[in-house]
Amino acid sequence: MASPPITLITGASGGIGAALAWQAAASGHHLILTGRRTHLLTELAEALTARHGGNILTIESDLSAPDGADSLINSIIAHGWRVDHLINNAGFGTAGDLASIPPARLQSLVHVNILSLTTLTRQLLPPMLSKGSGGILNVASLAAFQPGPLMAAYYASKSYVLSLTEALHHECKGSGVRVSCLCPGATATGFASEAHMENSRLFLSNPMTAETVARIGWRGYLRGRRVIIPGWKNKTLAILSKITPHAVSLPLVRKLHESA
Ligand SMILES: NC(=O)c1ccc[n+]([C@@H]2O[C@H](COP(=O)([O-])OP(=O)(O)OC[C@H]3O[C@@H](n4cnc5c(N)ncnc54)[C@H](OP(=O)(O)O)[C@@H]3O)[C@@H](O)[C@H]2O)c1
Repeated sequence: MASPPITLITGASGGIGAALAWQAAASGHHLILTGRRTHLLTELAEALTARHGGNILTIESDLSAPDGADSLINSIIAHGWRVDHLINNAGFGTAGDLASIPPARLQSLVHVNILSLTTLTRQLLPPMLSKGSGGILNVASLAAFQPGPLMAAYYASKSYVLSLTEALHHECKGSGVRVSCLCPGATATGFASEAHMENSRLFLSNPMTAETVARIGWRGYLRGRRVIIPGWKNKTLAILSKITPHAVSLPLVRKLHESA
């Protein structure tokens, strides 16, 4: 009998990543859970095993380090594990004028949201293609669809993720490997406090739960969707973002990021 698939989830210590871990475990996957807060990974692994069984490996991983993605892959290999499905979920935002954000924080953002995601994708895709199975779910955001004043680098990073993933989806057509991009709107997780924007209009406007986002995201991934936007409100916003001139959307998006 074939062994269960193994899914690697980055940023599994909370929020959407942890909720995706519940979805993958419920589908019978073994899991590799990574993040910096290892105590949360351990607690999650214990809860998942108690409910669903399955093997779970937790690995401490800082994806803002220049060699973070390569170290993570080396660690997985050293444990004798493989990766059948990759969920690039780790990410964070920074609020404020770009000129006021400490350069090191911006560099971390680019490392986590862009560079590590790209390295993990590049390194883990070839074995999937050789086997003709598995896949990659990249977590972007509704922010990917337009520029975002007061969160400029974050929005730009998510545009990169969406563009990369859509192109890769096309490259992998017919290979047996599925590639999807999950684009949530505002979601109630640790994201807003990490970005210092709990009082912004965006996060005071009834955010979705991480569980709902993960359920829709996982189902869309299993169905091989190219882009998955959870919820009709977010779908409408994505369409409006595409058709609204930036001269109009820029001040509106800025307002969303300001305190109410
Ligand atoms: N919440 C939203 O409104 C929203 C909307 C659209 C898209 N998203 C995206 O959804 C994804 C998950 O975010 P979330 O909302 O679930 O926020 P969250 O609760 O803050 O979770 C973020 C995860 O990323 C991990 N992470 C952050 N920096 C890291 C680093 N240097 N190295 C390794 N892991 C790191 C964190 O793990 P550790 O702290 O343990 O390292 C954590 O598990 C992100 O890509 C985010 O951009 C969120």
